[in-house]
Amino acid sequence: MIRIKVAVLISGRGSNLKALIDYAKNNQCNFDIKLVVSNKEDAKGLQLAKENNIKSLVINHKKYSTRREFEQEIDRNLTDNNCQLICLAGFMRILSEFFIDKWQGKIINIHPSLLPAFKGENAVKDAIDYGVKIAGCTTHLVDLEVDCGKILMQESVVVQENDDYESLAAKILEKEHQILPISLNNLCKGLSWL
Ligand code: GRF
Repeated sequence: MIRIKVAVLISGRGSNLKALIDYAKNNQCNFDIKLVVSNKEDAKGLQLAKENNIKSLVINHKKYSTRREFEQEIDRNLTDNNCQLICLAGFMRILSEFFIDKWQGKIINIHPSLLPAFKGENAVKDAIDYGVKIAGCTTHLVDLEVDCGKILMQESVVVQENDDYESLAAKILEKEHQILPISLNNLCKGLSWL
């Protein structure tokens, strides 16, 4: 079976990266994680990559004077490592037109809300503050507009009376770990001509 070579971009903890790594251990999986890129040196996910013998590197956005130079460096490394698809797994930088155009239809993101509700960085807190009774997460293709783009999968969780930020975020994260690998795998199946 042909496996699509995927780059995973992270900024922190890397629990979604872990879910992807675990999923890729299955023989039937359609993707291989070729490269992990973090924009933060202290991202815990980098350790996970090491433990699993996955090549990783830090591209610190603060070292570049423009967003474009930062993105060109990511793009160059992805190309050098023959990556065919990008999975954003808690990558906390907004990507610009240059990068998104180049990787059109080949960038997937996970967001902790039922889009189009609660876009942005504080999705879980915003959902609690709003008082929704059903929350969840979404995988989607990355488009020029933040947290837009074609929806691939969604999972919902019931918000209980006693839920606070921590408990709800944990329940949503559990669902993220289920739908992100499946969404990526489905996308890779469709791209097996690459
Ligand atoms: C997740 O909640 C994801 O939805 C959001 O950032 C968080 C990343 O968590 N985009 P982790 O680094 O994968 O543990």
